[in-house]
Parts: sequence; structure tokens; C-alpha cells
Amino acid sequence: MIRLQRQKVFDLLKKDSSHLLNKEINVKGWVRTRRGNKNVAFIALNDGSIIHNLQIVVDVNAFQNDELLRKVTTGACISVNGKLVASQGKGQAVEVQASEIHLYGTADPEKYPLQKKGHTLEFLREIAHLRPRTNTFGAVFRIRHALSFAIHRFFNENGFFYLHTPIITGSDAEGAGAMFRVTTLDMQNPPLDEQGKVDYSQDFFGKETNLTVSGQLEGELGALALSNIYTFGPTFRAENSNTSRHLSEFWMIEPEMAFYDIHDNMDLAESFLKYLIRYLLEHCDDDLAFLEKMYDKELTARLNMIVGKQFERITYTDAVEILENSGRTFEYPVKWGIDLQAEHERYLVEQEFKRPVIITDYPKDIKAFYMKLNDDGKTVRAMDVLFPKIGEIVGGSQREETYEKLYGRVKEMGIHEEDVWWYLETRKFGTAPHSGFGLGFERLMLFVTGMGNIRDVIPFPRAPQSAEF
Ligand code: 4AD
Ligand code: MG
Repeated sequence: MIRLQRQKVFDLLKKDSSHLLNKEINVKGWVRTRRGNKNVAFIALNDGSIIHNLQIVVDVNAFQNDELLRKVTTGACISVNGKLVASQGKGQAVEVQASEIHLYGTADPEKYPLQKKGHTLEFLREIAHLRPRTNTFGAVFRIRHALSFAIHRFFNENGFFYLHTPIITGSDAEGAGAMFRVTTLDMQNPPLDEQGKVDYSQDFFGKETNLTVSGQLEGELGALALSNIYTFGPTFRAENSNTSRHLSEFWMIEPEMAFYDIHDNMDLAESFLKYLIRYLLEHCDDDLAFLEKMYDKELTARLNMIVGKQFERITYTDAVEILENSGRTFEYPVKWGIDLQAEHERYLVEQEFKRPVIITDYPKDIKAFYMKLNDDGKTVRAMDVLFPKIGEIVGGSQREETYEKLYGRVKEMGIHEEDVWWYLETRKFGTAPHSGFGLGFERLMLFVTGMGNIRDVIPFPRAPQSAEF
């Protein structure tokens, strides 16, 4: 086969390819469909660079390789040399008239699981090694990339530094829910101490370690030196929550800012979310249009709503009052002090305000130890951002910067001082008011793709009983 410069389908369909018209080019990819008759074959080729397929036209009689053409079936991988021409058919601007085809890999039609269209998302989850080849997952993973890129771009444009916080930690930032243990001890025969407990001083790090639930505590150390930082990495939670909004391994973006109070924090969260959605509307229109058609007719309208509306800001106490006076019966009854459930959050966003809502000043007993205590002694400077369809998408707060108050909370909540002594020291040496928040990347992915299950917006979902691929 003659060596020609490979062209990506994206470049041929989305960029100006007029300089290549009527020239021989090369394209490579996977066959989505092959149809036609004994004279002409039409191959729909997809290389993942874009949702659309490139049409390859084969003059069967001139081609003289029936043997090879027979093997060009759905799922097969091919390389095609041919002339790029303006398309005669409708639906595409250009197509390729094949002169040579090389078959990299066949896909036996009897066995290839994606032979037919229209598989359920549940079935595709069972073949997560092949689902990136579908239109749906191609679109989702391209959007995932674009969203990651936009996140870094936003922070870079705004003077934030990307700080890499550890994945293996000796502390428990949130104090809620279980953590995954990291150990090299022999599980069959662990060393024991005098009390008969596992002796972690003999473990790899000389202490108990876990996978992190959040990069925040280390992020704060960075902010109290570099002013504005953010983390963007995997976090791990061993809660046994089998819901459509929870993963055991998910990605979180955590900005942390010195000299920000809770209002600055809310302003940042709001402009950040709007920026990201605007970026996707501008850069992912084809993929969004596909997902809108297939899964969520109101997708673009909802994305535009976020960009166009000011987020409502209310206190927890006011939110509880609204919920109590709503005349609704909720599955979890509402009273001051309870943790708000998704049903409550969605009522506020979807029924009451019809826009994103930021709730502040939650009871201290349902929030983490590091949040700044209000003067009432009962509530903390927490802020959660609630989105339609999702509920909580961002959780954050102004941090307690006074040593004595923070130390008091550590003791009150039974946190081991020896695990967080370094965190406490930042309040002893040059403490500063500061704030930050965590955005659940997959929660935002759920929102922007219109997908219904969080396992369908991450390539290899980790959830209870699920770590096959
Ligand atoms: O509210 P969370 O637990 O807050 C923190 O971890 C803080 N350290 C953040 C900070 O202030 N720097 O988690 C933050 C966000 C949630 O709002 C939610 O979007 C997401 O992370 N999240 C999950 N996403 C998927 N699966 C789970 N199990 C999640 N738990 C939290
Ligand atoms: Mg939270």
C-alpha cells in the first residue's frame, strides 16, 4: 500500500479540506456499517475524532478484491487510500473513493457484541472495554476531555496554580464514610501488637494509610503559600452507596484561595460553572446535539439556563423553612438539623427557584471539622451548589482559620491530632482567612451530557461490586 499522510475524519469534515479535494489521501478507523450492492459498497468509517462517519465508496468491480471486501464488516479496522471528492449523496460534504484498502483487524459478525445498534446502556456497561466505540460513549468521552481542558484553562487564565496533592494519605479529610486501606502487610498473617491489633508500624509507610477522599487539606497548605491553587485528581470513597450519582472512584476539582471569604467563594464557583458550560456549548456542539437527540431533549435549554441565570443564594435555615412550608410530603421529613437529601435539593432548584441554588450556613453537626464556625455557635460557613437533576454538585466552605476554634473542633469530633498536626500548624504560623470548594467532576459530566447514570460518564466506573475493566 502506498504511504500517504493520514487524515483524521474531524479534519476532513470540520476544517477546510478544500486543498485535499481530488487528491489521494489516507484514512484509518473502524467500520460502523457497510451497505451497498454488487457494484458499489458504502463503508461508514469512524476514527473517534468526531461523532460523524466518513463515507468510503468502493467500486466493487474495479476494486477486484471480493475476498477482502467480505471481511470489511462492522467493527473491523481498516486503512483506506483513496481520492477525497465532494459527496454526491446527502448527509456529508466529502467522501473518499477507495483505491486501496488494508485490513488491520477483522471483527467476526457472529461474535462482535456491537454488531447491531440500539444496545441498552446497562448492556454496554458490561462491555466497557468496547463501549468507547459507540456513538454515545465517543460523544461522552470527547466531552469529558473538553471539560477537563476547560477546567485547566479557566484556572490558568485566573492565576491559579495546579497543585498535585497525594493519592495515598494518612489523614481523613472529610471524616464521613469509609476509606480504602493501602497496605503491603500480609493479609493472611499480619503482624500484631501487644493488644492483638494489626501493627501498622510495620506496614510500608510505618503507619496506617488510605486512598484520599479529598485533596483539600493539602490544598490548603498550598493556598497558604501560593494564594490560589487548585487540585484535579481522583478521589476514593468506600461508601456502599449504589446510586446513580455515586462512584467509589471519582474525580474532583478543588480550588483553594487565601483571602477569600464565603461570598468570594460563591462568586468563584458560579463563574467557574458558567465558564465551563459556555465552553462546552461553543466547542462540543455536535456531541451535545447527538446526546440531546438520543437522551435528553432539554439538554441545551438546561445548559443555557445555567449560563443565563443568576444562582439563588439562601441559608440552610431559610431552605428548611421553604421546604417545611412547601406542602410537600418528602420521603425524608424535613426539620432543622437534618442533612438535605436529593429530593429536598431538587425541590428547591426545580420547583421553588427554577435555577441553581447555593445553600449556606449549614448546622455544624452535619459538616466537616474544618469549616468556619459562625457567631451563632450552631452553624458553619458551608456552601453547597445545587443543580437541577443532580442536586449537590459543589460542596465547599470558608475554612476555620483560628487555631483554638479549629483545635476545639478536632477534639470535639474525635479526630486524631497526630494525623492532622501539620494541618493545625498552618493556623499557628501566619494563618489567613481562606476558602475553597470541591466540584464533583462526574456530577458535572452527568449534568452536561444529560446521561442518567454516573457510571456512564467515566470510562471505567468503580462502584460496589464493579471493578472488572
Ligand atoms: O461535598 P464533598 O464531600 O466535599 C469535599 O470533599 C470537600 N473536601 C471539598 C472542598 O471543599 N475542597 O465533595 C465535593 C463534591 C460533591 O459536591 C459532589 O459533587 C462530589 O464531590 N462527590 C461525589 N461524586 C461522585 N461520587 C461520590 N461518591 C461523590 N461524593 C462527593
Ligand atoms: Mg458535600
